[in-house]
Amino acid sequence: MKYSKYSVIIIGSGLAGLYAALKIEQQTNLRDGILMVTKADLGESNSRYAQGGIVGVIKENKKDSTVSHISDTIKAGAGLSEFNAVKFVSEKSDEVIKDLLNFGVKFDTDENGNFSYTLEAAHSIKRVLHSGGDATGRMIEKALTKDVFENQNIDVYEHTIAVELLVDSKKECKGVIVFNEITQEYETIYSPVVILATGGLGQLYKYTTNPAVATGDGIALAYNAGSVLRDLEFIQFHPTALAIDGDENRFLISEAVRGEGAKLVDADGIEFMSKYHEKRELAPRDIVTRANYSEMLENHTDHVYLNATCIPKEKLEERFPNISRICAENGIDISRDFIPVAPAAHYSMGGVKTNIEGETSIKGLYAIGEVSSTGLHGGNRLASNSLLECVVCAYEVAQVLKNKELKTPKQINSDIKMIIDKYSKDLLMDEIDITSLKRELQDIMWRGAGIVRSEKTLVAALDEIYQLAKKFPRSVKCLNKEEYEFKNMLLVSELIINAALQRKESRGAHYRLDYLNTDENGVHSVIKRAKGELSFVG
Ligand code: FAD
Ligand code: SIN
Repeated sequence: MKYSKYSVIIIGSGLAGLYAALKIEQQTNLRDGILMVTKADLGESNSRYAQGGIVGVIKENKKDSTVSHISDTIKAGAGLSEFNAVKFVSEKSDEVIKDLLNFGVKFDTDENGNFSYTLEAAHSIKRVLHSGGDATGRMIEKALTKDVFENQNIDVYEHTIAVELLVDSKKECKGVIVFNEITQEYETIYSPVVILATGGLGQLYKYTTNPAVATGDGIALAYNAGSVLRDLEFIQFHPTALAIDGDENRFLISEAVRGEGAKLVDADGIEFMSKYHEKRELAPRDIVTRANYSEMLENHTDHVYLNATCIPKEKLEERFPNISRICAENGIDISRDFIPVAPAAHYSMGGVKTNIEGETSIKGLYAIGEVSSTGLHGGNRLASNSLLECVVCAYEVAQVLKNKELKTPKQINSDIKMIIDKYSKDLLMDEIDITSLKRELQDIMWRGAGIVRSEKTLVAALDEIYQLAKKFPRSVKCLNKEEYEFKNMLLVSELIINAALQRKESRGAHYRLDYLNTDENGVHSVIKRAKGELSFVG
């Protein structure tokens, strides 16, 4: 086993991880440098695929205010958003957006050189900044990855998966064990600060907008280490992913297309959203998703349509160059044809419980970005608040670390040694067909813990997962990256289902057919592992 030490380890290279690395490096005295560990290429992440944009409550925009943004976020959050977190993130938006510009990020502007804002669902005004039309994520990621690669104080391990956190019995995190899928080597890395920036978990579901890396690893790592998790049952399904036969990782058709005027229609071109909400296509995301789902059930189809033909062709090409291109590659001219769309798993509102600075319940362990649960999103995230949260929390974690002395742990105790030993032994393991097991799990989660759930579907799903787990005889050490990911997916699926069973109401994205009402008081669900068992602590 190889050993190394760093002042800070960041796991994940999406927007949260990249920006945190750059801010920490800028502000903190680092004796042993920063290590970024990422399980694919640098930049491969949910962030890379973000389309619509990032919320910018910019001081110069006199039409907007933090009061309005806070109110929209809280309304969308279905009674579970934490006011202080919402206020903090909103008020910080102006500063962090302007800071991103210093790192070479460019946002689209109008003919006068002012920021160009777009509208997305449940926002009361146009406040979403975009870049490259509909390539916001890619443009931000390109600028930040360049800076990270060029930075002498930041080392990057690509194609390396974090497999276990080094947390001792005093609940202090001392580092992480990683596995390099190219060299097949394990390495123990010590550090007083480990930041989880591992993103989401869309891959748990059959249909998702998320890329292959989104397997919920950070939640599994934190749970196994005894960290507190919150609100895992709240999975956001995006209403409009491109629904092409056989394509399960679905390309997103941004909400901004509806923001620019596109309508949801059935096969006959009849609009239906007025049946579901007064804001029609711009109702909160959970409502539009369930509307599409109901229409699909009623009409026995696997998609509805988005009609963007009311938007001038030149505007479509300028604002949505990638959506236009991908649709054209699939034989759809979006200026003339309806776009077949269906819901797909998109975002995890819950995650590792943190404050706005990313501190978890474990000393030395931080979580930022989609893996975290800061309380901003409540039961249903407002569009384009996620990228903003990534940037604000990355900025804040850097502020916290600025005042800390980052000393690499000197003495490694027996708890940590026991963890390392598990990965040092060579084990004889037969290959497992992970692709088919993964498909089975995704199908179970889609049917049992998807857009609508009930005790019956959830219990059946849990049962099927227990059966599936029997085909996967790994408890700690695995053969390859795919196995580690599948191990995490099994665990996180089980946690989501348990959280969903606990919540006997419908709220935001958690919709139970057997409990349609929303309780008067919204409470968070809180899970942690105690003595090796799952326990609900809230
Ligand atoms: P990610 O960007 O997902 O990065 C996670 C990183 O962690 C990856 O590099 C991954 O490889 C790495 N990783 C994971 N596990 C491990 C492990 N065990 N070891 C090592 N590395 C690991 N939000 C908005 O606000 N606006 C939008 O317009 C928008 N559009 C979206 C469009 C799409 C198609 C998708 C999928 C999401 C969109 N979202 C949008 C949501 C938003 O993009 C994400 O929530 C956000 O980018 C998450 O950033 P992150 O840095 O937390 O995680
Ligand atoms: C979109 O562009 O529709 C996605 C925006 C988001 O998830 O915030």
